[in-house]
Amino acid sequence: MQKEKIYANIAKQIIAVNQGEPSQIARYASTACLLFHAFEGFFWTGFYLVDKHHPNMLVIGPYQGTLGCLRIPFGRGVCGQSAQQQKTIIVDNVHEFPDHIACDSATNSEIVIPVFDKQGDLAAVLDVDSTKLANFDAIDKKWLEHICKKLLH
Ligand code: SME
Repeated sequence: MQKEKIYANIAKQIIAVNQGEPSQIARYASTACLLFHAFEGFFWTGFYLVDKHHPNMLVIGPYQGTLGCLRIPFGRGVCGQSAQQQKTIIVDNVHEFPDHIACDSATNSEIVIPVFDKQGDLAAVLDVDSTKLANFDAIDKKWLEHICKKLLH
């Protein structure tokens, strides 16, 4: 129940902060910041943006946490597979995920959510890492997808 309450509160904050903000980068930046500070188990929160100049490539966007790798081709790592499949991926143990990209060896579990623009095209993915194993579940999926839906609409 506690997790639901935190998410309900942080979702309200994210929506309120971004209300009327025309800059997508500003929306991503405020969302990454508020999510990072919302949960003790969140070690890295950020967005990888679809690179309009390089097809099927993600390029790092606003994030909070240790250094993130700059580019991820679709199909590579958790982010690239989420982008390619256009679906949320929850990884309970990244060390058991084939082709996981370890930007920081402290990461043990991860959730990646696709972000779609108003036309329904993929715009980015939201990546959240935790140092805890199996830190993410259906509640995280529900709320992070809800937040991502509000980001570009
Ligand atoms: N772990 C991600 C790469 C991004 S860093 O974790 C920030 C992946 O496997 O796609």
